[in-house]
Amino acid sequence: MTNSMQGSKDRVVIFDTTLRDGEQSPGATMTFDEKLAVAETLDAMGVDIIEAGFPIASNGDFEAVSEIARRAKRATIAGLARAIPADIARAGEAVRHAQRGRIHTFVSTSEIHLTHQMRKTQDEVVEIILKTVAQARDLVEDVEWSAMDATRTDIDYLCRCVEAAIRSGATTINLPDTVGYATPQEYGAMFRSVRERVPNSDKAVFSVHCHNDLGLAVANSLAGLDGGARQIECTINGIGERAGNAALEEVVMAIRTRSDVMPYETGIDTTMLTRASKLVSHAANFPVQYNKAIVGRNAFAHESGIHQDGMLKHSETYEIMTPASVGLTKTSLVMGKHSGRAAFRSKLTELGISLSDNQFQDVFERFKDLADRKKNVYDEDIEALVDEKLATAHD
Ligand code: KIV
Ligand code: ZN
Repeated sequence: MTNSMQGSKDRVVIFDTTLRDGEQSPGATMTFDEKLAVAETLDAMGVDIIEAGFPIASNGDFEAVSEIARRAKRATIAGLARAIPADIARAGEAVRHAQRGRIHTFVSTSEIHLTHQMRKTQDEVVEIILKTVAQARDLVEDVEWSAMDATRTDIDYLCRCVEAAIRSGATTINLPDTVGYATPQEYGAMFRSVRERVPNSDKAVFSVHCHNDLGLAVANSLAGLDGGARQIECTINGIGERAGNAALEEVVMAIRTRSDVMPYETGIDTTMLTRASKLVSHAANFPVQYNKAIVGRNAFAHESGIHQDGMLKHSETYEIMTPASVGLTKTSLVMGKHSGRAAFRSKLTELGISLSDNQFQDVFERFKDLADRKKNVYDEDIEALVDEKLATAHD
């Protein structure tokens, strides 16, 4: 495909918050080991920053963030903290062993949050920002500050808060669309306006963080880049509070596939996207919708005769990305009663499933029984066998 913008790309930082905002999806709690496995995959696929958790939230979260910080090879590890001294101290302690650690601290800035939730005045919140960002900066070099509910905040006040955060040492400024309210035009304009009006804005990297309440999280994230942001906060499979966050696989593949019109690039190895999606889906016990962009079961499936006819003649007739570019192979092992252990093990790896030897043996025997009764054994059948096995193991 033609690429008129090649060679003049701005590197966009990918900040993954699957283990923090993603885990805030109702029912998506992950175990310590599952979190380590997800973090290892994110690190290997080139995620720049992994938000590993909210250390003050529980001892489990603290331990997970600390261990991920110790193990990370390439990524910066971030811990979330409210604008409260104890939170910031705990986040600083959790990321202490990281090669690169970040404290991500946030406070609400919208009038509706200040009046009804925080019960603080605008001046009081500015004081809090000055103190808490400075405290974080005493602990680590890399401090991100977020204006919660930025998109419903008065723009003059938002600029005042951003200026204070940068003055106190914030190196990244995140302007979240916390409730998924903004339109792409508004979101891009907010970044343009804040960056133009805040005198020290060039001292920080600006970041987008979009929720999907109106289905606009990815569009808004890309609009934020056009407004000058250079960090995207996102989650695998778009999991997150309520309708979720911008999906990492979607923003990354949009930037890659439409590099003809977008002057950006990321450091993500996109061939790991499918594996990461399956791993997170299993770990968080959160199914991926069949027609989900990039990683859904139907994303590269063709049903109608016209489409199949086109695909047989040339794959670009109905596919704008190759399956290989997201880690799917066209040739998949057909699982049946003649399949052996090696093929079954390889199928599990492809599905992002990892089992102990005993679990593997048991699931393999169940699979053989099923294959005797059923002509075609689909991936979902195997996933169901594994889920059944893991559910009985937990009982
Ligand atoms: O959506 C949001 O505002 C958040 C902040 C904690 C960054 O998740
Ligand atoms: Zn969020």
